[in-house]
Order: sequence, then structure tokens, then C-alpha cells
Amino acid sequence: MAAMDYSQVAPWYDSYVKTDIDVPFFVNEAKNRERVLELTSGTGRLSIPLIEAGVSLTCVDNSPDMLAILRQKLAAKGLSANVYEQDMANLTLPEKFDLIIIPFNSFSEIIGLDEQHKALKGIWNCLTETGRFICTLHNPLVRLKSVNGQLFLRGKYSLSNDGGTLFLWSVEEYDRQNSLVKGTQFWELYDSNKVIESKSFVDIQFYLHQQSEFQKLAQSHGFHLIHLYGDYSYAEFQKETSPFMIWVLEKNKY
Ligand SMILES: C[S@@+](CC[C@H](N)C(=O)[O-])C[C@H]1O[C@@H](n2cnc3c(N)ncnc32)[C@H](O)[C@@H]1O
Repeated sequence: MAAMDYSQVAPWYDSYVKTDIDVPFFVNEAKNRERVLELTSGTGRLSIPLIEAGVSLTCVDNSPDMLAILRQKLAAKGLSANVYEQDMANLTLPEKFDLIIIPFNSFSEIIGLDEQHKALKGIWNCLTETGRFICTLHNPLVRLKSVNGQLFLRGKYSLSNDGGTLFLWSVEEYDRQNSLVKGTQFWELYDSNKVIESKSFVDIQFYLHQQSEFQKLAQSHGFHLIHLYGDYSYAEFQKETSPFMIWVLEKNKY
């Protein structure tokens, strides 16, 4: 079961996701690493700055539409990376990496527990013995504060190509029994004359890991914790207030 249909989202993704909050953190973590694997690279919001910083990057994503945009951007900028269309729960890559990252809380987009186990097994297999795995997740306590069943405007975004405007509305509810946030995003596109062009919606869902649950999951696959940061400025994780759980993991030594 997919978290959302990225073929619907891909054409607008770069218009509404413009954050670079995590870029200095990942550039810093990737420097001095020989080979870096970015899982769920999408359209390359983070991949492009990493490659521009000199990182030897392999990108994996399972959305052909998101990857098509990444490939266009790489070509336009004369940059190169290995790009694979693969499910992160079924990785088959020809080499190992000394850093594997999942940015933007995207491990949560694996809905099923079996698939989460398969992903961690695959990541373990793709990591060198001394390599690091950085997995970013929402902090459930903080994330749930904005999950209240109320429709709200997530943002109004200018579309650079044609002078149009995108309004993105969202409603989310928590399915506590299955640890899933489920919701719908509503997309309204207006042309440069402020006349509506189209309306559409996309259903979304993602898994909300508790701290102890993810720790056990990672441990069960032979990872141990090096750091747990609460944000991209390397602040220690605080359960009540940190926006994220940024897990820095390494393989156990036997
Ligand atoms: C929220 S986007 C993040 C994209 C990019 N990392 C960024 O920070 O802008 C999540 C990405 O994860 C990808 N994705 C979701 N589930 C996946 C899976 N099981 N295997 C590979 N990619 C997946 C989607 O196609 C999408 O490109």
C-alpha cells in the first residue's frame, strides 16, 4: 500500500516543497564519505545540493514521475548520479555504501511492518561494515499536534512556469490502532488571471513510529544508536518539543 500517488504530485512538488532546512546537515554528514546512497530522493531537493557539494551520490526512488524530474534537473545542470527506480523495501543495488540516508521522514511512507523490516534488512546489506545509516522520522508527539481532523490551508504557492497559483489544503486524522496518519490533500490550480483551472485531491497516509518502537526495529536488524538528534542543528532529541527524530545508526560489531 503506497503512502500517496506521487504521479499526481510530481508536477507541483518543487513549487510547494522549497525547504532547505536539512541541506547543511546532510552535506556535513556526507563529506569524507566515499559513496552515499539517498533513499527516496524524489525530484532531488536534497540530491542536487549534495552532488554540487562533491558527494558521490546514488539516488533511489520508486516514483518514475519524481525521478523523471530529478533526471531533467541533473541533465540541465550537467551533474551526474546513479539513479535507480526501486522500492526501498526491495533494494537490489550493485555496490555497498558508507553512508545511507532517508531524508524528509520518508521511512514513514512504508506503511506495512513487514515492508519496514524488508527495507531495514536491505539497508543493512547495502551498508559497508563501518558505514552509517541516517533515518529521519517525525517526532510523533509533536507531529500529532497538527493532526486534528480540521481542513486547513497548507499554503499558497506561485507556479514559476506560467504565473499560476496553487492552493494546497489538507485534512488529517490519526488511526491510533494502526499508527497511521491518514488524510487528503486538495489541490486548486488558478491561472495568471486568478481563474480556476483544475481541482483534484490525493489521499495520503504515513506511519508514525514511537521512539522505542523504531529503536527496537533498528536493533532487531543489527543496528545500534550513535546519536538521536531532534533537529538539523544537532540538538539532542527532546520527546516533548523536538520536531524530528534523526537516527544516526551503525552496524553492530560481532
Ligand atoms: C516527501 S517525498 C521526499 C522527496 C525528497 N527526499 C525531498 O526531500 O524532497 C517522498 C519520496 O519518497 C518516495 N517513496 C515513497 N515510498 C517509497 C518506497 N517504498 N521506495 C522508494 N521511494 C519511495 C516517493 O516517491 C517520494 O519521491
